[in-house]
Amino acid sequence: MAAITYELIKTCKQTGARLGRVHTPHGSFDTPTFMPVGTQATVKTMSPEEVKEMGAGIILSNTYHLFLRPGHELIKEAGGLHKFMNWDRAILTDSGGFQVFSLSELRKITEEGVHFRSHLNGDKLFIGPEKAMEIQNALGPDIMMAFDECPPWPADEAYVKQSTERTSRWAERCLKAHARPDDQGLFAIVQGGMYPEYRKQSAADLTSMDFPGYAIGGLSVGEPKHLMYEMLEVTTPLLPTNKPRYLMGVGSPDALIEGSMRGVDMFDCVLPTRIARNGTTMTSRGRLVIRNAAFERDFGPLDPACSCYTCRNYSRAYLRHLIKADETFGIRLTTYHNLYFLIDLMRQVRQAIAEDRLGDFKEEFFDRYGLNAE
Ligand code: GUN
Ligand code: ZN
Repeated sequence: MAAITYELIKTCKQTGARLGRVHTPHGSFDTPTFMPVGTQATVKTMSPEEVKEMGAGIILSNTYHLFLRPGHELIKEAGGLHKFMNWDRAILTDSGGFQVFSLSELRKITEEGVHFRSHLNGDKLFIGPEKAMEIQNALGPDIMMAFDECPPWPADEAYVKQSTERTSRWAERCLKAHARPDDQGLFAIVQGGMYPEYRKQSAADLTSMDFPGYAIGGLSVGEPKHLMYEMLEVTTPLLPTNKPRYLMGVGSPDALIEGSMRGVDMFDCVLPTRIARNGTTMTSRGRLVIRNAAFERDFGPLDPACSCYTCRNYSRAYLRHLIKADETFGIRLTTYHNLYFLIDLMRQVRQAIAEDRLGDFKEEFFDRYGLNAE
């Protein structure tokens, strides 16, 4: 029995977006969906009860961070990541390669894997495909990611060719080293930079290997949005329709809608939680910076159109006060709202797909949120 299965419920007649459901050993979730990020085995400042209450069916955590601290052996000893952090719904872990490149120092990439120094204490460490599988098998998430190489943007064609081919070889090694295929699904990651021919090659290589799901990586790395959408358009049609597709590291409201329209089922991003911590919020009328003086005496809700805990109970004036006074509770309230906002947006996207009107929904949403807004 496969650990992860995907059920396609219907496609939107107006846009081609997919309404579906992913089944995991820790329950099912409806797609398209947004996954809150819990890098260090916690969604920053939120309790698992709160993350459930806002409607998340799956969260993401990071191999790289948990390998460095507290260590995968310790988490295994605790009974696995679900038990360790008291989260009983689905978990996906990223494989570490991407984080090594963005966080660590003195990294050196070889065919074997990546040598690097810990960003915490400078220790010399190594992660390759087999190690990434060992760590993720010990952590025990429902979905694990293959170890990949994400080229920067811009990158020349020779570099992209080499990293794309290496990502395919590494995916094969991951598949071989994966020790728990019965209760953990391993997703491959399509790379290929901004070159359609390498995107196609990557998708062909990886789909010939039969993974239970496919991610699209190497996007939202600084390129213009139209390039990201073009790359999605060449990639998703080459992926199997009976398996989930996951667009990595993308979570602005417009990209969630545009990605869904191009056949993506899963998204994650630190954006909602990161911006919440400096008091930036996403509302149905666009971004709102709660620190602004304009809100000093604004006793209305953060977003009148939102029914989250924050918007039902607190005013903009109170949130502004808490954030300006550096009170932790202010950050908890803005974090709760931002996550709820994206989870709720995806509920509306699913409803629109069910009713074959995602194209209309997009127009209405963009009009209210402000075009090109994030
Ligand atoms: N997160 C965002 N983009 C990527 C990517 O290309 N690869 C991995 N492993 N993680 C990501
Ligand atoms: Zn709200």
